[in-house]
Amino acid sequence: MIICKTKTALQLLLKNKNQQPIGFVPTMGALHKGHIALIEESKKQTSITVCSIFINPTQFNDKKDFEKYPVTIESDILQLEQAHCDILFLPSVEEIYPNGLSSLTQYNLGFLEEILEGKYRANHFQGVCNVVERLLRIVQPHILFLGQKDYQQCRVIAQLIHLMQWQHTLKLVILPTIREASGLAMSSRNSRLTADEKQKATTIYKALQFIQNNFTKQSFSSLQKEASTMLLNNGFHEIDYISICNAENLQPTQTYSSSVKHIALIAAFIGSVRLIDNLLLD
Ligand code: PAF
Repeated sequence: MIICKTKTALQLLLKNKNQQPIGFVPTMGALHKGHIALIEESKKQTSITVCSIFINPTQFNDKKDFEKYPVTIESDILQLEQAHCDILFLPSVEEIYPNGLSSLTQYNLGFLEEILEGKYRANHFQGVCNVVERLLRIVQPHILFLGQKDYQQCRVIAQLIHLMQWQHTLKLVILPTIREASGLAMSSRNSRLTADEKQKATTIYKALQFIQNNFTKQSFSSLQKEASTMLLNNGFHEIDYISICNAENLQPTQTYSSSVKHIALIAAFIGSVRLIDNLLLD
């Protein structure tokens, strides 16, 4: 695997290799099996796979969350090498934001940034779009691979691709969430959980499964109430949302409809860690 730290070096390398299509997996490091599944899929579908590791300061609304974000670069490189990733792009903040962190682009994300993560993490998706647009302009991939665990982020990035009018040259592939045997969704933030918290954190998936098993039979408000009790009885102390939405557009839904695809999404705190997860219900 070749490691490039500057966009000039990366672009020169890609030009010299002249291999197409290019697959791209953007990450913030602290890699786990979920990321590696994206690399493996890119290896299958493309001729050259680029992974980026960049902890993007503009997408953290909470300074403490940014400071505590896990950094495991040596293990990340090892995992990428074992997965036969071709290129790792490892830029500095200056490389991505040469004009500083205050001159950011504003994207029209509409309703998508007012709900769920957007509601609880002010400007988070503006930061995500700023970094993803910059990374896409540098790497110029043909296929972008993202994980369903960040479902709303996937929808936001689809909207970014649409806003940039890249939909004819860039394909977005979303892969299912990879889970531990316990059901806990793989996440870089799991490394901040104690063993006890990690065990209790599996309730988030159990609550999603409970909703899935009952969403055609019970009112959504009673499902949300029961799911909330499950979380609060099992180590979660604060719940940002338990929401059942239309999976296409993320509009909240109050009742089951056989003509709509539903998704349940949860964000809740266990200890000092905020976890998110989701499950397509139909
Ligand atoms: O999902 C992530 O790790 C980040 O939000 C992303 C897409 C790499 C942008 O910083």
